[in-house]
Amino acid sequence: MFDRSRKGEHALLIQPFSGGPLQEDVLEEFSDLARSAGATIATTLTARIDRPSPSTLIGSGKLEEVKAAADATGADLILVNHMLSPVQERNLERQLERRVIDRTGLILDIFAQRARSHEGKLQVELAQLRHLATRLVRGWTHLERQRGGSIGLRGPGETQLETDRRLLQKRVEQLQKRLDKVEVQRTQMRRARVRSELPRVALVGYTNAGKSTLFNTLSGAEAYAADQLFATLDPTVRRIAIPGGHVVLADTVGFVRDLPHELVAAFRSTLSEAREADLLLHVVDASDPLREERIAQVDEVLQAVGAGDIPQLLVFNKIDRIDGAEPRHDAQDGIPDESRRERVWISARDGRGLDLLEQVLGRRLGLQRVRGSLRLPSSAGRLRSRLHRLDVVQGEQADEDGWLLQVDLPLMEAQRLAGEADGVPLRALLPVQEPDY
Ligand code: GTP
Repeated sequence: MFDRSRKGEHALLIQPFSGGPLQEDVLEEFSDLARSAGATIATTLTARIDRPSPSTLIGSGKLEEVKAAADATGADLILVNHMLSPVQERNLERQLERRVIDRTGLILDIFAQRARSHEGKLQVELAQLRHLATRLVRGWTHLERQRGGSIGLRGPGETQLETDRRLLQKRVEQLQKRLDKVEVQRTQMRRARVRSELPRVALVGYTNAGKSTLFNTLSGAEAYAADQLFATLDPTVRRIAIPGGHVVLADTVGFVRDLPHELVAAFRSTLSEAREADLLLHVVDASDPLREERIAQVDEVLQAVGAGDIPQLLVFNKIDRIDGAEPRHDAQDGIPDESRRERVWISARDGRGLDLLEQVLGRRLGLQRVRGSLRLPSSAGRLRSRLHRLDVVQGEQADEDGWLLQVDLPLMEAQRLAGEADGVPLRALLPVQEPDY
């Protein structure tokens, strides 16, 4: 309903800043966001806003400079990397004679272009409507006040404003109702998954870190991976095999710094995949000089969506971009920073380090293996054939008392079999032997 294609729009970027000098990466991220929305960048201006103007955010001198630059470069859109109040947005539009979009509006626009699932689309539209509603309604109230009492404004029936306000409200209610329904379905699906008792792992990370690529390599699936921000907006969920057993793996939306509050709220249910995981694979672009800041920014969003306390394994991806880097595992005590989070260094694109990652993942999730010799009496023929069917028997000798088997199987599997096969010597194999890395 409010989707607007931005393809080919020529944008002038305004980067407001206050206090110390402007950080380069802020500008870079903003340009990435603009390009991800489909804009081409006409030019970029910075604007000091130590005392932000309530009516236009930036001062009048800067405003003139922006206008001149927009005219000179043929920019037809102004993007401001800051929150704008409805009043500021309207005033800027009026004075610059161009559409003005703030950071929230820009991210919403990207989300609108990227949402693919039914739920994702509904959520984006709802967030957009809410963002727009304050602008529309307050904007028009202002107009109404200006024209207050004018002839013709109170014609018979409803004013345009009332009609549109009602339409908007109706649409919001309709969307909310549909979303509630989807949420019920999602809860049911999640319950079914919990019943299956598989450990749940969610991929999280800064946008463009390589989550979808890793998801594809681990699952053999073709989720979407592109060099664009927020290529993945909707969680995709797959059951995957790792040494020691199976896990449910979910890909989630990419994070950015200062994710607007409206969006955090809108994506609470999408991010529930992260909230309900047993372990988070926090994917980091290891070749990014600002990777430590990115990690902190993702942690902040995780806190905000209630996933701050879930154990994490840091996956330092894209080692192919770092000279001489090899796959490796930094164990907890080797980590200098106080978080003491384990790190695995990989390249999702080349597949290097994936086996290491899977091993560490298996250990973190308690999917250890059980290895040893097992004596089965001749009465345990059924268990023997089950073990063969599971493909966990590595050697076997038969004698008149039964069989001697060399087995290697996941701990979870061994526990299940021991529980079912009453009194069978499988228990003798438990507890676990430490796997070697
Ligand atoms: P969002 O959907 O924005 O959250 O991104 P994402 O984290 O899912 O990233 P995605 O998998 O879409 O990858 C982003 C870009 O990084 C793509 O161009 C990938 O091809 C590239 N990429 C991913 N993994 C690697 C890697 O190991 N090495 C290199 N060189 N590039 C990678």
